Amino acid sequence: MDSGESGQRVQPRRVEASATAVVWFDVTVIVITGTGTGVGKTIVTSAIAALAGASGRKVAVVKAAQAGLEPDGTGDLDTVRRLAGDVTTREMVRYLEPLAPATAARRSGIPTVTPAQIAGTAVDLSETHDLVLIEGAGGLLVRFDDTGATLADVAWALGVPVVIVAQAGLGTLNATALTAEVLLRRGIESVGVIVGSWPADPDLAARCNLEDLPVAAGGPLLGALPEGAGGLDGAEFLEIARAGLSPWFGGDFDPEQFAKAYNIG
Ligand SMILES: Nc1ncnc2c1ncn2[C@@H]1O[C@H](COP(=O)(O)OP(=O)(O)O)[C@@H](O)[C@H]1O
Ligand SMILES: [Mg+2]
Repeated sequence: MDSGESGQRVQPRRVEASATAVVWFDVTVIVITGTGTGVGKTIVTSAIAALAGASGRKVAVVKAAQAGLEPDGTGDLDTVRRLAGDVTTREMVRYLEPLAPATAARRSGIPTVTPAQIAGTAVDLSETHDLVLIEGAGGLLVRFDDTGATLADVAWALGVPVVIVAQAGLGTLNATALTAEVLLRRGIESVGVIVGSWPADPDLAARCNLEDLPVAAGGPLLGALPEGAGGLDGAEFLEIARAGLSPWFGGDFDPEQFAKAYNIG
């Protein structure tokens, strides 16, 4: 689906200005995308939700399409509830096969979910919540259906900012730049990039990427969550979220200090 076909834009507020002009407390819906699958979108979503919840905001998380489950049968929103605590969650469609939603839908016969439905759910939730986070499936241009609808259409329809979750190491700069360029071309605001899983012992590429990722993303490094964070309990996870996310999300993460600690910058 081309952006222009995704129907009426349902969100009253449109972010027009540069990333620096997007103000956290003024944002009610954020789309969490990533450079691919397994990059830590769910962990980042949980961290943002945990911090917002701790500051008294009522938070909802929407999983647009859950394709494939963890070996224990849980989905992303189970992870979010485990890590972020008291949040409202909405899974819009579930496919058992770990495939792109369009492919999983075609094979299973389970109906697809449209960008308008996802946007509508987010708008409904925004009426009763202070913050709504939408996590897609895989990367930005993974299709929800055979018309070509993607998470980019959801962000565009809502007119809300996107956070890019990226990997730490070699190969992440290209995937991040591709994601950022598509967002730019479609007139979608990107607020910045977050490293989903920062290694305990980062190699040279990961350390250098602290300097290069913001350039690739065309926006600031807004956080880095340590690997293993997903295995923590709620209270410990909240502290990790605070340390690993920028003040934009209510955390303490300082990209310059972080880079300096790794002798970069
Ligand atoms: N910071 C992290 N700490 C612990 N586990 C992580 C972290 N980032 C990613 N993972 C693990 O990697 C896998 C993919 O992470 P996930 O957040 O589900 O990625 P995505 O949502 O982008 O597919 C999961 O098994 C998750 O537990
Ligand atoms: Mg996920």
